[in-house]
Amino acid sequence: MDAFRIEGGAKLTGEVRISGSKNAVLPILCATILAPGTYRLENVPVLSDVATLTTLLRTLGVRVVREGSALLVDSRESVPNEAPYELVRTMRASVYVLGPILARFGHARVSLPGGCAWGPRPIDFHLKAMEALGAVIRLDHGVIDAIGAPLRGAEIRFPFSSVGATGNAVMAAVLAEGTTTIFNVAREPEITSLCEFLCAMGARIEGVGTEKLVIEGARELHPADARVIPDRIETGTYLVAGALTGGDLLLRDTEPAHNEAVLAALREAGVEIDVNKTDIRVRSRGPLRPLEVETAPYPGFPTDMQAQLMALLLLAEGTSEIIETIFPDRFKHVPELCRLGGSIRVEGNRAIVRGVGALTGAHVMASDLRASAALILAGLVARGTTEVSRIYHIDRGYERIDEKLSGAGARIWRVRR
Ligand code: UD1
Repeated sequence: MDAFRIEGGAKLTGEVRISGSKNAVLPILCATILAPGTYRLENVPVLSDVATLTTLLRTLGVRVVREGSALLVDSRESVPNEAPYELVRTMRASVYVLGPILARFGHARVSLPGGCAWGPRPIDFHLKAMEALGAVIRLDHGVIDAIGAPLRGAEIRFPFSSVGATGNAVMAAVLAEGTTTIFNVAREPEITSLCEFLCAMGARIEGVGTEKLVIEGARELHPADARVIPDRIETGTYLVAGALTGGDLLLRDTEPAHNEAVLAALREAGVEIDVNKTDIRVRSRGPLRPLEVETAPYPGFPTDMQAQLMALLLLAEGTSEIIETIFPDRFKHVPELCRLGGSIRVEGNRAIVRGVGALTGAHVMASDLRASAALILAGLVARGTTEVSRIYHIDRGYERIDEKLSGAGARIWRVRR
C-alpha cells in the first residue's frame, strides 16, 4: 500500500487549480441511467471513487470512456443488473444507482453498503423515500430488492437533511407518475447541481436550492451534457494548507460562494482571504485564533472539512471547540493527530482542541478520506518527517494531491510499496 512521506516546514506559495467535485459527479453519472443515450460530462476529476462508479455502471451496461478531463457516457444499453457488494462496499455512494434503476426499469437490486470507517451511516431515508413512491422493498441476503412500476408521486419528509437520500429520491421522482413534494431536502451545491442536470434532461423540478422540492414526473427524459462544479471540499482543504503553512496561495477555478462557511471560519481565525470571481487567495502571517465551530448541513460548516480544520486549530493560540452534528463519532483522525503532537479531547460529539504551538513528524495511518487530508495538512507543518500510510483513502477524493502540493512548494512524495 502506497504512503506519503512529507518533510514539514515549507510555506505553500503559488497556484493550485481546483478539480471538479467528486460528490457532484457521482450522482450525475448515476442519473445517466434515467434516459438511454450519450452524454458528455466535463471537468470530471481522476479519482478512484469515479473509477469505482464507472466499473459499477459497466456492470449495468453503461459504457464510460475518458477523454482528457471529460467522460463520455453511453447508457443506451443499460440493464437493471444487481449492484454487487464488492463495489458498493468500497463506496457508499454506489447506493445512488437505486433511484435511477428503479425509476427506469421498475426493479432494482443493490447490495447494502455495509459498515464504514465512522459510525453506522444508515440508508433508511433512501429506502423510505422509495417506499413512499410506491416501491416494495425487501432485504434479500444483504441485497436491497426494490420493485415498483410505475412509481407514483408522493410527499416525502426527511427527518434530517440527507444528501444521498435527497439525490436518490429526486432521481426516482423525476420519472414517477404525478407530483412529488420533498420536504427538508439537502441544499448542498452537489444536490443543486444534480437537479440542474436533471432539468437539462427534461425533468421539471421547482425549488432547486431550497428546502422544498416539487417535482412533476415526466414520462421520459433525454440525455444532456454537463460541466461538473468545482470541488468545495478540495478547495477548503487547500485553503487550510495555505493558512496552516503561513503561505500565500491562489486557488483557481473554484466557486467561492460554495465555501462561505469555511471562508468565514478561516477569517475568524485570522487568515487573510481575498475572493475574486473564481479565485480565492489565502494568506496567513500572524498567529491563528482559536474557534468554536459546529458542523451543520449546507450552508453550515461542512462535516467534510471538520478534520482539516482540526489540524489548523492545533496551531491556534488557545483552545478551540468543534461540535460534530452530522456524524457524531467522526473522529478517527484524532488519535493520529495526537501522534503528531496534537492535544485533543473528545467528549461525545465535541472535540476540545488545544493549540500546541508546533507538531512533530511521525508515522500515522489514514482511516478515511477527510481524515487522510487532515494528516497530510498536519504533516506539512510538523517538524521533521511524517509518513501517512493507507493513502488509498486520499486517492478516492483528491486528484493528484501530491503533485498539486509540491507544485506549491510542499515537500511531499508518494512512496510506492
Ligand atoms: C454525503 C457526502 C459525504 C458527506 C455527507 C454529509 C457524498 C457522496 N457523500 O454523504 O461526503 O460527509 O453527505 O454532508 O455526497 N442518515 C440517516 N439515514 C439515511 C441517510 C442519512 O440516518 O438513510 C443520516 C446520516 O447518518 C447522517 C446524516 O443523515 O447523520 C447526513 O448524512 P447524508 O447527508 O445522508 O450523508 P451521505 O449522503 O452518505
